[in-house]
Amino acid sequence: MLNLEAEANLIAAAFSAAENAYAPYSDYPVGAALLFDDGAVITGCNVENASYGLALCAETVAVAKALGEGRRGGLTAVAVVGLKADAEPITPCGRCRQVLNEVAALGATDPLVLCVSKDGVRRVTLSALLPHAFGPGHLG
Ligand code: THU
Repeated sequence: MLNLEAEANLIAAAFSAAENAYAPYSDYPVGAALLFDDGAVITGCNVENASYGLALCAETVAVAKALGEGRRGGLTAVAVVGLKADAEPITPCGRCRQVLNEVAALGATDPLVLCVSKDGVRRVTLSALLPHAFGPGHLG
């Protein structure tokens, strides 16, 4: 469980990250913030490309940063914000659910995902977003 102050801090980190989004093609800036069990927060924003299909989502960038800094598990919560999202909160795309699952599975956690819109927060677990996930454990 995450208290309301921790939730608000994580959401604020995701909003700050979205300010750095490189999204000139979609004009849909996204920010993500990952909270780890030692209190660390690692953020990411979407990074698009003139070759449109190469766009990287905010959650994927954040996970790459976390793994690249040596983190292996301990993921307790994720906040995702879309600056253009209206009433319907953004939820991680299918690929990002799988990418998030990798770092979650490494530490056997089921992170809370905070999907943020201007009207509120949808709280859902990663396992609810990606049931019966394929993960490192399947590789033996
Ligand atoms: N996007 C994300 O960053 N995360 C998601 O979970 C969904 C989509 C980005 C990709 C692209 O740069 C823009 O949003 C529009 O799809």
